[in-house]
Amino acid sequence: MATVIVILLLLPLLPSTALAAFPYFLACGAASNVSFPGDSPARTFVPDAPFLSSAGRVPAVTSTGSNTIPPLYAAARAAGSGFSYSFADPDTATVNVSRVLRLHFFPFTSSSSVNLSSASFSVSVRDAYTLLSSFSPPRDGVVKEYFVPGDGSGEFRVKFTPDAGSTAFVSAIELFPAPPELLWRRPVKPVGALVDSVDVNAWPQQALETVYRLNVGGSKVTAANDTLWRTWLPDDPYFSSPRGLSQVNSTSTPIIYGTSIGYTREVAPDSVYKTQRAMNMASQQLFLTPGPFNLTWTFALPPPAPGSDSDYLVRLHWCDYSLVSSVVATGIVFDVYVAQRLASKDLDRNAADAAEQPNEAFYLDYAATAPTTGNLTISIGKSDKSDAGGMLNGLEIMKLRRADNLNSAGSHGRRKKILIGTLSAALGVAVLACALLCLLAVLRRRRQAPTPAPEEKESTQLPWSQHTQDGSSWVDMSNASGAGMTGGLHRMSMQLNISLADITAATENFNERNLIGVGGFGNVYSGVLRDGTRVAVKRAMRASKQGLPEFQTEIEVLSRIRHRHLVSLIGYCNEQSEMILVYEYMEKGTLRSHLYGSEEPPLSWKQRLEICIGAARGLHYLHTGYSENIIHRDVKSTNILLGDAFIAKVADFGLSRIGPSFGETHVSTAVKGSFGYLDPEYFKTQQLTDRSDVYSFGVVLFEVLCARTVIDQSLERDEINLAEWAVSLQQKGELAKITDPRIAGQVNGNSLRKFAETAEKCLADYGLDRPSMGDVLWNLEYCLQLQETHVNRDAFEDSGAVATQFPADVVVPRWVPSSTSFLMDDSVTDSGIANSKAFSQLSSGDGR
Ligand SMILES: *[C@@H]1O[C@H](CO)[C@@H](O)[C@H](O)[C@H]1NC(C)=O
Ligand SMILES: *[C@@H]1O[C@H](CO)[C@@H](O)[C@H](O)[C@H]1NC(C)=O
Ligand SMILES: *[C@@H]1O[C@H](CO)[C@@H](O)[C@H](O)[C@H]1NC(C)=O
Ligand SMILES: *[C@@H]1O[C@H](CO)[C@@H](O)[C@H](O)[C@H]1NC(C)=O
Ligand SMILES: *[C@@H]1O[C@H](CO)[C@@H](O)[C@H](O)[C@H]1NC(C)=O
Ligand SMILES: *[C@@H]1O[C@H](CO)[C@@H](O)[C@H](O)[C@H]1NC(C)=O
Ligand SMILES: *[C@@H]1O[C@H](CO)[C@@H](O)[C@H](O)[C@H]1NC(C)=O
Repeated sequence: MATVIVILLLLPLLPSTALAAFPYFLACGAASNVSFPGDSPARTFVPDAPFLSSAGRVPAVTSTGSNTIPPLYAAARAAGSGFSYSFADPDTATVNVSRVLRLHFFPFTSSSSVNLSSASFSVSVRDAYTLLSSFSPPRDGVVKEYFVPGDGSGEFRVKFTPDAGSTAFVSAIELFPAPPELLWRRPVKPVGALVDSVDVNAWPQQALETVYRLNVGGSKVTAANDTLWRTWLPDDPYFSSPRGLSQVNSTSTPIIYGTSIGYTREVAPDSVYKTQRAMNMASQQLFLTPGPFNLTWTFALPPPAPGSDSDYLVRLHWCDYSLVSSVVATGIVFDVYVAQRLASKDLDRNAADAAEQPNEAFYLDYAATAPTTGNLTISIGKSDKSDAGGMLNGLEIMKLRRADNLNSAGSHGRRKKILIGTLSAALGVAVLACALLCLLAVLRRRRQAPTPAPEEKESTQLPWSQHTQDGSSWVDMSNASGAGMTGGLHRMSMQLNISLADITAATENFNERNLIGVGGFGNVYSGVLRDGTRVAVKRAMRASKQGLPEFQTEIEVLSRIRHRHLVSLIGYCNEQSEMILVYEYMEKGTLRSHLYGSEEPPLSWKQRLEICIGAARGLHYLHTGYSENIIHRDVKSTNILLGDAFIAKVADFGLSRIGPSFGETHVSTAVKGSFGYLDPEYFKTQQLTDRSDVYSFGVVLFEVLCARTVIDQSLERDEINLAEWAVSLQQKGELAKITDPRIAGQVNGNSLRKFAETAEKCLADYGLDRPSMGDVLWNLEYCLQLQETHVNRDAFEDSGAVATQFPADVVVPRWVPSSTSFLMDDSVTDSGIANSKAFSQLSSGDGR
């Protein structure tokens, strides 16, 4: 009872700060509370006057007019002389824990005499750490975040000192203890000789300033979604490797935290661990030469200057979504480089004591010195010990801010604040218990808060539900008349359903005899349906779950569109976990099998042209003929099939993507495609447009002309890649060296020349420089025209020199179609187009 009276008597004498406790959220200069009910937990920024050391002297300034300024930044505390804030900082079990200090600066124009735009000032805390000096906040405003060690003095003071003749200001302040596991809980690994490991042991007594905080492979995580009101930005602007080398992976399975060893949601929220950028191992097969590669992020930092801090704490976050090997504890293994130095060799979960299960979050802290170039790089490299590539989920870079005078840290404040310390101790029981309870409640609430679902990286556009584990149909029939899908499409996919019994009957129970092809997806059989239709049956390998998206895409694309030059889907079957697609039967097989590597008689030049025209027409229809553009993504000679009378049809839509919609220029997607055909620009930028198909088609054109594989490892280095080799010869005018000798006698020089030019244009480095599929089609039609004219004139001329001698330039008038509709209209036959007005004009204008 006596104590209570003493406290009550003392109350009026206490600085008001002693009454409040963590966490502190101040709206500086504001007259009323500013609330953020959307934060979890919700926060209220309260007016700052009670915490200001001399409120009367330091004016509050408010912005004039503009209501576009967020309420928190509509006022500020500003002065031409120094001012400070004092916060009660209970000395408790959290004494060794860093305090999180966030300072918000948002300059605005005001009618008062102070000019915030020209402010320049320094900020120090605890009279020990200078956090900012001669600082002028950028015009758009900035939030600076620091971690400052506790010192047990009972008080936390933040001091603002304007430069001579200038102004100091602050818009908002956040101050609360960091969760104990956030910092220094796990060992810090020094990287490179410059970092002294003895010194690193003393880092926990120093302050840190956050310079970069990224959600790698994911979207922005805002303060409202983070466990400690942090902001995590996407990594794209800092990712400096070619885009195609990486792919973004994500998981929808909950993230596991080894809380007992310091991995908790307070360290980084689920949304950071649920997305990652991983090495795209397929990129090694798609391109010939890259060999081993790194994924690298580059960060600009101020170059180290004498006497200033240049040490950084680099925290890298990982989460391994799958156990690659069934051997316990063997997950993904990779190398880590920080500032161009090897930081961790063959890193795996064990290195971080993370337990042996998938989806378990972990991080490592590295100590590094900024390179003299000023750029700090972080690289993930493939380990020799693993075929799987590396990955990264999150990244934080914090600059070490050493105490101004090492001896002053901690001791200075202590001497000065004995009175407050004592009083705090007296009040401690009540205030502290309250603060701790609040904090505990807050933390508990956050742990229980439901984690936000990860954002869908690629929308599947599929109207049906996902495959269910029990093997039941993944086509959601209950949705037949439901909203959100086109009824016609659904009816169509239902009509396409074929029973497994019918398919087994058609293929004589998948008899080896009927096997006509083996591919990545599975086997292809020929068969005859009950009604006598000959079909090709593509059966997915049972275990290949990853085939499902491709299976669905193929049905999606093919059930929507029908075209004379696109292989028709007759049906599909997904009974008993089977994924089977049934197509029209293409009797002559793939284009490639008629070009090389088989016993088939060679195709004539005219046949080749007609096949290319057919395939181009199919692709042109895909690109433009449907309301949503479709990009094939896997154009190659084995995906162009030949039917009766060598009619060409484009097949295999498993990788197709709905293209950019009106107004967009591209879609971003993980790089897929085939070795030797892949568009290098798409590989570099991951931005897919229909011009990527044009590139691949250009490779097919050269393949048709030269009758050789697109990648032939047995050749000289320059000659391995057909696309590169053919373009270089074409530029030197020596393409004849590699044209198929079997067509030499029959080919018209102009036709050949035009064909080669067209193929070369398709292979332009940049998509913008490539023709559209419509242009390609038109050019090929013209090649055929040139060839026909030639044949008519010199029907029996047989000059072996024709193919090897290019005539003088052929003047090709460019015909710009006023409407491309005639090319899309399937009812117009091939000959109908060839004889169209434009063409008859052109053929008569042929210079020969
Ligand atoms: C401002 O917020 C504080 C803390 O949430 C609360 O105690 C106080 O009543 C609020 N004041 C007003 C005027 O709403
Ligand atoms: C704080 O750290 C010091 C030195 O590292 C240690 O001696 C002390 O026990 C710690 N105090 C608490 C409460 O953890
Ligand atoms: C405030 O300072 C900025 C930068 O020095 C200057 O451009 C601006 O004119 C000043 N505004 C006023 C009202 O003095
Ligand atoms: C952030 O939280 C809000 C509300 O809880 C939620 O709607 C939103 O999807 C979350 N965003 C992210 C990126 O997690
Ligand atoms: C990323 O996803 C791809 C495709 O699903 C997979 O092959 C690869 O192993 C994954 N990478 C990592 C690091 O999990
Ligand atoms: C990866 O980056 C590190 C550091 O920059 C470098 O030493 C190493 O050679 C790189 N590895 C490859 C395969 O480029
Ligand atoms: C630092 O990185 C930037 C952008 O990533 C780049 O433009 C600059 O050339 C780099 N500087 C050095 C010295 O490497």
